[in-house]
Amino acid sequence: VPAATASLGGGLAVAWAAADTTTAGRLNFTNRLAIPPLATSRADESGRRVFDLRTTAGEHQFRPGRATATLGVNGGHLGPTLRATRDETVVINLRNALSEPTSLHWHGMHLPAAMDGGPHQMIEPGGVWTPTWRVAQPAATLWYHPHPHQQTARHVYLGMAGLFIVDDPTTPAGLPSRYGVDDIPVIVQDKQFGDDNQLDDSEAFWTSMGILGDTICVNGTLAPYHDVTTERVRLRLLNASNARIYRFGFSDDRPFALVGTDGGLLAAPYETARIQLTPGERAEIVVTLRPGERAVLRSYPPEVGTNVWNARFSGGHDTLDVLQLRAATQLSPSPPLPDRLADLPRTDTSTPAAIRTFQLSGYSINGARMDMSRIDFAVTRDTTEVWEITAIDEAPHNFHVHEAQFRVLSVGGAPPPPELRGWKDTVHTPPNTPVRIALRFGDYVDRNTPYMYHCHLLYHEDQGLMGQFVVVEPGQSPGKPHHSR
Ligand code: C2O
Ligand code: CU
Repeated sequence: VPAATASLGGGLAVAWAAADTTTAGRLNFTNRLAIPPLATSRADESGRRVFDLRTTAGEHQFRPGRATATLGVNGGHLGPTLRATRDETVVINLRNALSEPTSLHWHGMHLPAAMDGGPHQMIEPGGVWTPTWRVAQPAATLWYHPHPHQQTARHVYLGMAGLFIVDDPTTPAGLPSRYGVDDIPVIVQDKQFGDDNQLDDSEAFWTSMGILGDTICVNGTLAPYHDVTTERVRLRLLNASNARIYRFGFSDDRPFALVGTDGGLLAAPYETARIQLTPGERAEIVVTLRPGERAVLRSYPPEVGTNVWNARFSGGHDTLDVLQLRAATQLSPSPPLPDRLADLPRTDTSTPAAIRTFQLSGYSINGARMDMSRIDFAVTRDTTEVWEITAIDEAPHNFHVHEAQFRVLSVGGAPPPPELRGWKDTVHTPPNTPVRIALRFGDYVDRNTPYMYHCHLLYHEDQGLMGQFVVVEPGQSPGKPHHSR
């Protein structure tokens, strides 16, 4: 068990130094990228799509030699990709085959709080949890991971995470969409291997921002390459790391098309050469390749201020190799990208039901740390609120909200950059820079079962940089948190 009590302020200097600063970050790309299998599903009598999942302890061959002890879903490490179509109803039969309680949260999904898989939906060892909901949101790359209070960082670090892709029949044709061929999941995580290839979660590697590993893996593959057979490939980038911030780009600075963010497709493709993702964030990008060439996806130092700051964020590395794309000498043609991808309605914020402010500092929000028995506030169903989030210390933070995909209104008072103009559920909060978001809450009223909001640096979350809200009827007050099964 990691040192959950690791020092708050005093550990800072030690903390940054503990991150490995010796690895060069350049890779030889010797391993074929593993593609997480698509989860099988079946239709029940009422036409609902049923998935059978099991959380398990297992092992994974990251490197030659001894296999690494890990946790996974339906396998030793990571989990299968779930896929469902908008308006379908899904049922998940989830058995916890671990020897400890855990939960599974559907990150980015709009669903009733009791189905959310947060810290109030714990599954005991051997227990079964069967959430069901209608997928009522546009096409998106969502994901799932455990959310047990104060154990999320460890469970995710040891390997429990997977993608949940939502398809939408209204998506225009033209986006690469053959899973594993030209539509590639890219789950990026950093690991710190200790003696004997075991994941080192000893105190030395848990900094005040959590764990920063010196080894990057994609879908559990170290030094990965992917053979490309089409002119264009879509990469579904997920930062599933505990703490590391990546700023993705190609080593030759080639532009690519950003087509989607956390909660769905952008209105139109946006051409850029860099996309930064903090933990929990996703981006869908489409890259064009020439026959026979090799393109290296890297992570560059985040753009968040001083060099010192960058070094802290990147664990001392300037750049880190992530994935090599190897284009075949003959590429099959890909259709042109559509000009328009999705309708992005403007959120009307002229009369918000509430304006709330959140100050993030250390391991608390507005001075309070997470308390499972305290509901911090209630929002009213079918209303729009404006939240202003400001990180007021010098630590890296971001902000994730359950239940609602939101829109960014401003960052530091300025209009959001293009990559923050689509649906988001997690947003970077640079130091002393107010980030304003607009959220529209749906109609899943439950005054006793809270949704979470928190920093997605998982150690911060575990330490208490998290709060709880409920959705109520107009005029109703919040109830008492209630553990739902
Ligand atoms: Cu990705 Cu509250 O979580
Ligand atoms: Cu944080």
